[in-house]
Amino acid sequence: MHENPFSPSFSIRPERFYGRSSELDLMESALDNPDSANRFLFMTGTRGCGKTSLLHQYALLARQRHWTVLETTYQDALTSLRLYADGTTGLSHDFTIKPSIALPGVSATISGASDAKQEHDRPSVASTLVRRLSKARLSAGLFLAIDEIQKIPETEMEEICHAVQAAKTQGHSIAFVIAGLPTAYQKIRHYPGCTFVQRMRRLRLGMLGKTDTIDLLRGTFAHVPELVVDQQSCEELAAFSAGHPYLLQLVGSSAYEVAVEATSELAREIVNLDETMIREAESRALPEYQENVLFNLLRGVRPGTIEYLRAMCDVADTSSTATTAAIAQRLGKTLKECSSARSRVIDLQLAEPIARGKLRFSLPYMPLAFENSSDIVAPTSEDIWIPRMTPSAR
Ligand SMILES: Nc1ncnc2c1ncn2[C@@H]1O[C@H](COP(=O)(O)OP(=O)(O)OP(=O)(O)O)[C@@H](O)[C@H]1O
Ligand SMILES: [Mg+2]
Repeated sequence: MHENPFSPSFSIRPERFYGRSSELDLMESALDNPDSANRFLFMTGTRGCGKTSLLHQYALLARQRHWTVLETTYQDALTSLRLYADGTTGLSHDFTIKPSIALPGVSATISGASDAKQEHDRPSVASTLVRRLSKARLSAGLFLAIDEIQKIPETEMEEICHAVQAAKTQGHSIAFVIAGLPTAYQKIRHYPGCTFVQRMRRLRLGMLGKTDTIDLLRGTFAHVPELVVDQQSCEELAAFSAGHPYLLQLVGSSAYEVAVEATSELAREIVNLDETMIREAESRALPEYQENVLFNLLRGVRPGTIEYLRAMCDVADTSSTATTAAIAQRLGKTLKECSSARSRVIDLQLAEPIARGKLRFSLPYMPLAFENSSDIVAPTSEDIWIPRMTPSAR
């Protein structure tokens, strides 16, 4: 059988990118229109929803239009910007500085080692960038993309924001697109030196649409001619994934593995993905989705928000929808008492308001976020101390 065409992973760009046409249109018109506010974009989304993949498509669009592209992550953003601003890379405008990617004819070695003394004497990146852009005569503009922005240190983000703002104020053509988890937005926009972020457009990235999800499955399975997956099977797997890109890749990949096992068992060269195989693929994909996506969602979330989500899980119907009144009732609180937790789950992109007084979870299988992880084993023993609740209790 051909190789597994699915790649369930994080921060690895898909070989074949599907959907997101409105997000792509938005960036295309921003790049073509110097006055577009969408040139300054803060993309947020929950884990595995496709931020890195879309950011890379944005960089490709910019490159096609001959922008100078700095495609970076939180680790190398400032170093890349500095190297570009200092003019030490020797790169001409149509190359991307991306240390992890080899480009024909370009060897941009970014050491990142910053000697403390040098650091002190260094002019601000804002001033060097403006100087460089004034001299550079770029054919289009400078496109700076930063991924995993939630991990960038505050001082570095401040320096980058100053530089971008200075370049913009001086009338240079610059686009600044950053991507990260929803918590990043709340955090970074409150940094005193990053007020610029408050004026950036926010792009809340959700799931893939129905047609795109089915296209992705059909198109990807087509790379394995020995595995026949009919329209109905694609629709079933698509519905299972609810358009979550990571879960889609995961269930597609599991279906492929199940099919490989079946071909060797049946000694057949061509196999149809049947109902039993689909169920098996789903049950293999789910624990990984739970572990890598759902458990991560609750990390660092305030207890009040977790309590609200848990109550929502209890009262939601099969379409992941609950009324805010039912959630409040479950918590024994008034709607007003719940309003900040409600706003918080929306800010975190865990749920969205779909009608007055109604919320729907943004991701599938949210109750699994509260289920115990199967690999946590607590050995039982009689010979243990029972921890007291209070020091005086006997
Ligand atoms: N539009 C798409 N078409 C095809 N595959 C996609 C698409 N978007 C994302 N994927 C796939 O989904 C998975 C997760 O994507 P990605 O790493 O871009 O998500 P992310 O939001 O950046 O995740 P994280 O929160 O961990 O940074 C990857 O396997 C990726 O290849
Ligand atoms: Mg990512």
